[in-house]
Amino acid sequence: MRIGIFPTSATACAAGAQMIIDRFAASPGAVLGVATGSTPLELYAELRTAKAQGRFTLAHSRAFALDEYVGIAPDHPEAYRNVLRAELVGEDKTGLAEKDLVTPDGQHPDPEAAAKAYDTAIREVGGIDLQILGIGSDGHIAFNEPGSSLVSRTHHEALAAQTITDNARFFGNDLSQVPTSALTQGLGTIMEAREIMLLAFGSGKSAAVRELIEGPISQRWPATILQMHPLVTVLLDEAAASDLELTDLYRARWNLSQRA
Ligand code: PGA
Repeated sequence: MRIGIFPTSATACAAGAQMIIDRFAASPGAVLGVATGSTPLELYAELRTAKAQGRFTLAHSRAFALDEYVGIAPDHPEAYRNVLRAELVGEDKTGLAEKDLVTPDGQHPDPEAAAKAYDTAIREVGGIDLQILGIGSDGHIAFNEPGSSLVSRTHHEALAAQTITDNARFFGNDLSQVPTSALTQGLGTIMEAREIMLLAFGSGKSAAVRELIEGPISQRWPATILQMHPLVTVLLDEAAASDLELTDLYRARWNLSQRA
């Protein structure tokens, strides 16, 4: 893992956006994996700015979501398709076309069938080239909650109580309004992305970040499976990095990689 520790989330997102801009300049048709939640919002804002300045476009790309709530009304603003559409789709955003935004079908009467179809759709485009990830305070990535399989494919998952509490802020702080399950890429699916960029900001993520980087690989903290991926960049602010032991080493390695 390459670990970048930045003074603020804004500086981390600027660095992350530049990595994505460089990647898509080299291969404009690359497939982007996109995350929802608060964490990537500054990153997406940087990409929109770069698009407006003519330095970046997703016009030739497809973007696949990590997950979608099951049973949420299709026009609900917190349905992940709508969140991602608002962030990314259109010439005034990142240039991504609506038809090229692919999300799991949370309305399907048979969620497991929808999950299988989504996994197949990712394989049929040849897989994700660059996957953007956040991390839950309980160590989940996408909606792969603690105790779930480290080799799973896209599936229907019950949300942990911690996740429902964390996400209530998007639903008027009303726990009863938060969906209780989701379709999520599995950890095995995510591990097939050719490159991964994980972002984490704030002290609420520091325990999960410590386990992600320095803990043993375990279903207890699902993100730890990323230790087995060959190309992961973790972008942190100081607060999210505050529980790490080996920060001097990570900073030295990062500085070395920046000079390369
Ligand atoms: P957040 O969620 O970006 O809203 O903190 C991250 C996650 O749950 O993966």
